[in-house]
Amino acid sequence: MIGGGHPAHLVRRFFGSLRSRRPSPGDQLLVGALLRPKEAELFWAQPVPDQAHGMATARAVMERRPERPDLTRAALLHDVGKRRCGLGVIGRSIASALALAHIPTWGRYTMYLDHGTLGAEDLENAGSDDLTIGFARDHHGEPPDGIDLTDWALLVEADSE
Ligand SMILES: [Fe+2]
Ligand SMILES: [Fe+2]
Repeated sequence: MIGGGHPAHLVRRFFGSLRSRRPSPGDQLLVGALLRPKEAELFWAQPVPDQAHGMATARAVMERRPERPDLTRAALLHDVGKRRCGLGVIGRSIASALALAHIPTWGRYTMYLDHGTLGAEDLENAGSDDLTIGFARDHHGEPPDGIDLTDWALLVEADSE
């Protein structure tokens, strides 16, 4: 599974992560209101740029579907697996470049590229619902069976903004 996207997206993400800020008090309230305690622990265990990306994805979803907290929750938590690789911006860019060039990866680079699977495992252990687990696992791939494709498309679009 590729953990990046096409090069323009990677470049945007690279500069975005250099700019990102710690979530605001309002963001912290949102996390506390929407997430189970174990999910919130996973959210706050992420590096700050990943917290900011999860929050931006969640805000984009919430603007469009405020009546669907399950979608916002899936958006908030979709990249929690990235924290496991311990890579910063440069290491992640190397991992994505290796994947784009179809060069076999190892160690932390492989963990980064597998962040969907790793995050889904963490979320299962945290008692998350099926949509949250499924979006974490497959957000760079195909939607799982039984998922509403309109919901899925909204989540994918918010993740790519
Ligand atoms: Fe991701
Ligand atoms: Fe993402």
